[in-house]
Amino acid sequence: MKRVTAFVGSARKKHTYNAVRQFMVYLQALGDIEYEIVVLSNYHLGICRGCKQCFAKGEESCPLKDDRDVLIEKMMASDGVVFATPNYAFNVSGIMKVFLDRLAFIFHRPRFFGKTFTSIVAQGICGGDKIVSYLDLVGNALGFNTVKGSCLTALEPMTKQEKLKIDRSLARHSQRFYKRLIKSDYPVPTWLNLMVFRMGRTSMRLELDETSFDYRYYKAKGWFESDYYYPVRLGVLKKTVGSLFDWIQVRRTRNRQHGSALSL
Ligand SMILES: Cc1cc2nc3c(=O)[nH]c(=O)nc-3n(C[C@H](O)[C@H](O)[C@H](O)COP(=O)(O)O)c2cc1C
Repeated sequence: MKRVTAFVGSARKKHTYNAVRQFMVYLQALGDIEYEIVVLSNYHLGICRGCKQCFAKGEESCPLKDDRDVLIEKMMASDGVVFATPNYAFNVSGIMKVFLDRLAFIFHRPRFFGKTFTSIVAQGICGGDKIVSYLDLVGNALGFNTVKGSCLTALEPMTKQEKLKIDRSLARHSQRFYKRLIKSDYPVPTWLNLMVFRMGRTSMRLELDETSFDYRYYKAKGWFESDYYYPVRLGVLKKTVGSLFDWIQVRRTRNRQHGSALSL
């Protein structure tokens, strides 16, 4: 049995919510799936104040007391996660963005390895494809194995043809997602993921010290020495290029350190 949790960023139970439900119905037809649909507006989420305490001192130091950890727990307890949002002004909805900001410390310290992620965007006219790409990037940065999401277009009231097209798209999407979900694996990183990890960790090693929570976290995980976030066999080429990414970041950081800091 696989557990899938969807986080919906619309306050009304219409297109986004219905699309997620349909997606789950298709998933359940493919295998043994238990699911939960979390409507973000039913939870209390504070607006990030930008103090960066979560980066420097750890997420426990966040001054906001809200449902962030309840939602993260739901993600940790899932094999698969879906972020679903309506397109609002060519972007995710406000509540979805508030949620993503509350998760931002996890971009520094990714943790959802081996779990599968995807996104669903509902829109009236256009612009949603970029939101799908954005959410897929978010899933990737959180550590998930990301499956390309889908963008569903319909004006209100929805026509029969629009509904048919959306259902077909969700059926294909659920198949892509299910395939990845049942693998639950720890893949060899893509070039982009390898670069982000190696340059990010080298930058942290050189720019931070024991006073930083990020630094201590990376050190405790062995990430300053490891090939990647999790044990994985890199081929000779990826091993070599990985070292090159570290080297490039050393040079970039040294150049940066030669510049004088602005006190803004
Ligand atoms: C504030 C607001 C902004 C919107 N902006 C866009 C937009 O930029 N592009 C678009 O195609 N649809 C836009 N829409 C339409 C919604 O994306 C569309 O109706 C969607 O299906 C709503 O999902 P829901 O039924 O889950 O709330 C907007 C709707 C609202 C309420």
